[in-house]
Amino acid sequence: MQLRIPGPTPVPPEVLQAGAKPMINHRGKDFAVLIQSLTARLKELFVTKNDLYLLTGSGTGALETSIVNTLSPGDKVLGVTIGEFGERYLDIAKTFGADLVRMDVEYGTPADPDAIRRALQADPAIKAVIITHNETSTGVTNDIRAVGKIAREFDKLLLVDSVSGIGSLLYPVDEWGGDIVSASSQKGWMTPPGLAMVSVSAKAWEFNKVAKMPRSYWDLGAAKSYLAKDQTPWTPAVSVMYAMDKGLDLMMHEGLANVQARHARIANTIRTGVKDMGLQLLARDETYASNTVTAIRVPEGVNAGDLLRTIRADSDIELATGQGSLAGKIFRIGHLGWITDEDARIILDGIAKALPKVGFKAGAVAGR
Ligand SMILES: Cc1ncc(COP(=O)(O)O)c(C=O)c1O
Repeated sequence: MQLRIPGPTPVPPEVLQAGAKPMINHRGKDFAVLIQSLTARLKELFVTKNDLYLLTGSGTGALETSIVNTLSPGDKVLGVTIGEFGERYLDIAKTFGADLVRMDVEYGTPADPDAIRRALQADPAIKAVIITHNETSTGVTNDIRAVGKIAREFDKLLLVDSVSGIGSLLYPVDEWGGDIVSASSQKGWMTPPGLAMVSVSAKAWEFNKVAKMPRSYWDLGAAKSYLAKDQTPWTPAVSVMYAMDKGLDLMMHEGLANVQARHARIANTIRTGVKDMGLQLLARDETYASNTVTAIRVPEGVNAGDLLRTIRADSDIELATGQGSLAGKIFRIGHLGWITDEDARIILDGIAKALPKVGFKAGAVAGR
């Protein structure tokens, strides 16, 4: 089976095996070694000297962590959304009482850094910017380097959802900026679901001193005081940590630059392949097309469910549907984490084989 949804992603056998180790005392010496080693290597892969915390939960928990630990109800926040995960980030901020200034960007396009600059110029009361690095629902990557520069220039807190980005995509946190950057184990890390990761800057800690949003499980203060003892405040997902220990070994062995180059190369193969079949990407400008997930328009006359079912039945490949308002309009290929050039060709073959069976006629692509 080729599991090619944008997370959970396939996990190499040696990583699965590492996750099957016997339990240890999470307040003992072996755990101290494990968490130290994971934290140090994750910092290398985030290219940051900021604090970094492993949280037991999914990516959404990391997003909530970033908001409730830095903001107070009534704080003005510029919420930039280019898709369904941007919506989710904004929803969390709103739920906890942020005064949201929305920037809605048409699905299939990235945010315009100049528009962010103008929004910050127009409203000096804005304290923070929240944004998605790589929008998994549309297959579009935002220019976080440019956004980071602007956030620094205006001295705003920058919270970045990089759940399907960092590691697989270039994002040197210290160089580009990002006060809390969120990630999750089941994406590019070749690890099962269950762990979230956040890097936390000195500026985020400054905001934390006065942040009044309610928090308990996701309290970074607790995470900080326990990490000083090589522990976590609550019982961690020890098995997923063991698995990640092996996943990170694999990434470090390949080398971060090589991991990212492989993602870029495979994404390019996928994009070229689907376009050659006569399909259209959702991303309007390929410069911003994601190197971890490709969103493809469902061609005219084709039913998305039939297409994915046929690909699964004939080729044993699991692709993803569109989410929210994109349901039925697009399908998505996750190509992050444990994936080779050969896998990319297998995926393309599976799609090519299924298309004629579900009524696809080359040329009859969905209009833009
Ligand atoms: C960009 C992005 N943000 C947030 C999430 C939410 O992560 P989780 O499902 O692990 O809570 C995802 C997961 O697909 C994602 O792709």
